[in-house]
Amino acid sequence: MRTQIAIIGGGPSGLLLSQLLNRAGIETVVLERRSRDYVLSRIRAGVLEWSCVELVREAGAGARMDGEGIEHEGIYLASQNRGFRVDFMKSCGKKVMVYGQTELTKDLYAAQDAIGATIIEEAEDVALHGVEGDKPYVTWRKDGVEHRLDCDFIAGCDGFHGVSRQTIPLSVRHEIERVYPFGWLGILSRTPPAAEELIYANHRRGFALASLRNPMLSRYYIQVPLTDSVEQWSDDAFWDEFRRRLPPDVAETLKIGPSIEKSIAPLRSFVCEPMRWGRLFLCGDAAHIVPPTGAKGLNLAASDVHYLFQALKQHFEEKDSAALHHYSEQALKRVWLATRFSWWMTSLMHRFPDTGEFGQRMQETELDYLEHSASAQASLAENYCGLPF
Ligand code: APR
Ligand code: PHB
Repeated sequence: MRTQIAIIGGGPSGLLLSQLLNRAGIETVVLERRSRDYVLSRIRAGVLEWSCVELVREAGAGARMDGEGIEHEGIYLASQNRGFRVDFMKSCGKKVMVYGQTELTKDLYAAQDAIGATIIEEAEDVALHGVEGDKPYVTWRKDGVEHRLDCDFIAGCDGFHGVSRQTIPLSVRHEIERVYPFGWLGILSRTPPAAEELIYANHRRGFALASLRNPMLSRYYIQVPLTDSVEQWSDDAFWDEFRRRLPPDVAETLKIGPSIEKSIAPLRSFVCEPMRWGRLFLCGDAAHIVPPTGAKGLNLAASDVHYLFQALKQHFEEKDSAALHHYSEQALKRVWLATRFSWWMTSLMHRFPDTGEFGQRMQETELDYLEHSASAQASLAENYCGLPF
């Protein structure tokens, strides 16, 4: 087999890149380790920056997002059981779209099927070869048969646990990481959301987030110790703790119900430099991970995809590889800006082992400053809504 771009990973990064390239007449093959059903069973975050919304539309996969997504023009920040709203439109003239990442991935698969894109599911033992030369290729096994795909370039869109980043020699790649000393216990419930907009709550007992998917599907999180297991948390225990961390007026009217999904996720900040090695280009979680507090995971994947798509288009259409040579430096600039914001928001809103009374008062004072400072709110808003691609 031969193609122009071999894409490792059929998650949001890989599918969005494949969709954009195919629509520009550039051939791709997507190699996904899991089945499509497995990929679509993952519950992920649901806030899209407007640049991400526009990229999905450019890829021709935005119809359901535009029909079912909910435009949000602000968030609430709560502390000491009281909150205030950050008005995005007033602060930075932007907004975001609330639309489940799982739904977006479904839409991308449907769009890829509609144009007859090649997606190979359940590709086992994918391996990258010759990435430092000018004839890279990929091998894998499926149903006991070995396969080889020759290509011009490889896009490593296979997430944090993928094979692509590992293909960059240890002597070349530099990984910077911070693991946070807590996790997020998240639940999905078929209940009306706690509020029309997202509520991020700083509380002495720990962080809480009230989010949503649609008027009858709520997505909630509480900070829990890393030693906790999801089995320790009954629905009742979750609801009791969640209510304690919300502003009283929200807690009083909270509609509760059985969880239809419940899981604990660890939080880390992670960046791999460089994001390119020879003819291998990393996109999305393969190159970086952010704590979900700033809702940047998918949105950073989108900016990587945007930069790589434009660079590959320039290479094939204009025989100009300048943007490809600049890709890693360009992508990493925005990666670090989003990493900073996600770290800042995580540090502001969570209870750390060493927070103590002074640390808590600093957090509460910073939130008080945010409440009363238009410029502080503008800074938060422009980062939350997404810095320019
Ligand atoms: N071979 C082929 N596919 C692989 C391999 C491999 N060795 N390893 C992983 N994969 C697949 C995974 O099964 C997954 O479907 O690569 C895909 C990577 O998808 P994601 O982990 O979702 O990463 P990405 O597409 O970059 O999307 C980033 O997803 O994880 C969230 O919060 C993250 O919002 C961010 C977004
Ligand atoms: C979600 O809806 O899952 C979500 C929203 C905002 C975040 C994190 C998760 O910051």
